[in-house]
Amino acid sequence: MSGRTRTVIAIDGPAASGKSSTAQWVAERLAFRHVDSGSLYRAATAARVRQGADVEEWTEDSVLDAARSVTLTPVDGGFEPLIDGSSAELEMRGERVTSRVSLVARMPAVRDWVNSLVRKAAEESDVVVDGRDIGTVVFPDAGLKVVLDAAPGERARRRLAERLHRTPTDDEIAEETGKIVLRDEMDAAQSVRAPDAVVIDTTHMKQSDQIARIVELVREHLGRSSAGKDALSPGAYHK
Ligand code: CDP
Ligand code: CDP
Repeated sequence: MSGRTRTVIAIDGPAASGKSSTAQWVAERLAFRHVDSGSLYRAATAARVRQGADVEEWTEDSVLDAARSVTLTPVDGGFEPLIDGSSAELEMRGERVTSRVSLVARMPAVRDWVNSLVRKAAEESDVVVDGRDIGTVVFPDAGLKVVLDAAPGERARRRLAERLHRTPTDDEIAEETGKIVLRDEMDAAQSVRAPDAVVIDTTHMKQSDQIARIVELVREHLGRSSAGKDALSPGAYHK
């Protein structure tokens, strides 16, 4: 560690608003590292699912105990939670985890566990961190705070297009919208928006435009600081 102050860019927003993929691209453009805080809630949930107990038996202690098998490991461009030393991406993104993760995320001790891992990751590099409460609870002094939002139906369409690799039907979008709205409700308590965040409604935006907008905002906010100078040189965006 050089001892200089690390830069944190916070990107918060609801499910499928584009946080993680956008954060990943912004991080790449700026040569920062990406930290996906939601992936840690998902990893803790997946680790508890592996133990096989009914969800009614999930206590804060039992989830924390299961989370001992999770490590946040540096990978190219960011960090990945491993469970028992192995990648568990499919498991973490599956329906069993998605339907239980909001319950786990309401457990204060689990939030403390996630927040300490995320803050530790940010000690070692400049980071773009995405989640629900990054600009308020985790990094209230973040150099730039962004909230990404989009209409529920559009978020449902994006999630399905990503999962199915095709254009979803109207019926599929309607069903997924119901799930997204339900998760918005279940996540309301832990979704705390910073009043000083720049809100970007991406409903009618191309992803490349929202990435460019955030990179521009980072340059406006941090461009003159010597800490950010090298990291803020133009990078290639090639999606
Ligand atoms: O990608 P998606 O928005 O579907 O979810 P995620 O970012 O992977 O987060 C999964 C879950 O973790 C959310 O539904 C929240 O319950 C929780 N979460 C949270 O409470 N606080 C955060 N900073 C990030 C995620
Ligand atoms: O992390 P979060 O759940 O908020 O969303 P994501 O997984 O990063 O994004 C969901 C999908 O929406 C990804 O396939 C993105 O490429 C896509 N998308 C977007 O993020 N922004 C747009 N303007 C259009 C599509």
